[in-house]
Amino acid sequence: MKILVTGGAGFIGSNLTDRLISEGHQVVILDDFSAGNEKFVNPKSSVIQCDIRDAKKVDQAFASFKPDAVFHMAAQIDLRKSIEDPKADYAINVTGSKNVLSSAQKHGVKKFVFASSAAVYGDNQNLPIKESESIKAEMQYGKSKAEIEQALKESGIKSVVLRYANVYGPRQGTIGEGGVIAKFCKRLVRCELISIFGTGEQTRDFVFVQDIVDANIRALSSDKDFAIYNVSTARETSVNNIAGMLLKISGKNCKIKHLDPVKGEVMRNSLDNQLIKKELMWKPCTSLDLGLSETWKWFKERDISRKT
Ligand SMILES: NC(=O)c1ccc[n+]([C@@H]2O[C@H](COP(=O)([O-])OP(=O)(O)OC[C@H]3O[C@@H](n4cnc5c(N)ncnc54)[C@H](O)[C@@H]3O)[C@@H](O)[C@H]2O)c1
Repeated sequence: MKILVTGGAGFIGSNLTDRLISEGHQVVILDDFSAGNEKFVNPKSSVIQCDIRDAKKVDQAFASFKPDAVFHMAAQIDLRKSIEDPKADYAINVTGSKNVLSSAQKHGVKKFVFASSAAVYGDNQNLPIKESESIKAEMQYGKSKAEIEQALKESGIKSVVLRYANVYGPRQGTIGEGGVIAKFCKRLVRCELISIFGTGEQTRDFVFVQDIVDANIRALSSDKDFAIYNVSTARETSVNNIAGMLLKISGKNCKIKHLDPVKGEVMRNSLDNQLIKKELMWKPCTSLDLGLSETWKWFKERDISRKT
């Protein structure tokens, strides 16, 4: 299959590209390298350096490659930036995504898989959150994801929306939703002080990147016209637990410091995953212990300094 991966030089997109290529697909990556890394780009893929806000260039990419399927991963993922400059977030995550979507429509793409987020639910404490819960994004980042979900639903293209929980694994940057694990690993490599905001008892649903890749591969063969799935472990893990497990796995003896809590931070989060288990036969296969060990190994061996 001919597959276009936007954001294919980033954390999740590059891991997905590796899998697609190993399964024999022809992949073109569309990325502006604002956060991606050339070292993550699979040498068997082709790269078009392009900002998704540039509608003309995006369309040229579709016209020349004529992809059968699109995985749309490119996004401004920094939640802080989304609060500080919601207009810039909108320009990339909504206007840019709509450029990708309209070119996909124009050039007859048969399947569109969109990387959405738990952020669309806002602070919902009805845990684990089901897909049927209402959309109540509070930040522009989540609102942007919700707007693209709606645009896809109305587009007529066969689409699968995957709402990821907090993704972690090799190649992750330190910003973004699952960034706390990458941040801790980088600190552990240098044996620096590990800072935890607040008590550290806040929980998240941490899902390993290879499980996310697997969900994307399964979404590709879904025969539904439109579907939305959470991709998660449906388990809560506290930030303190993550820090403790990483200290044990790394064998390091770094100190932990608790900082003031972040105002308005969601204290607990996890997403239900029954629907994707039932309809796409997907399940998270990587235990937290194994996922953290793989992640630690990668950071220890490479310590690649990312732009983010
Ligand atoms: N990491 C998580 O925990 C998580 C959770 C939920 C959803 N997601 C979503 O998954 C997707 C991938 O996230 P990631 O963690 O791999 O982030 P990432 O920053 O590593 O990857 C994003 C990629 O998009 C590219 N990009 C950014 N702006 C662009 C633009 N204007 N034009 C073209 N390319 C652009 C970046 O250079 C980067 O390579 C994003 O859509 C993100 O919102 C991630």
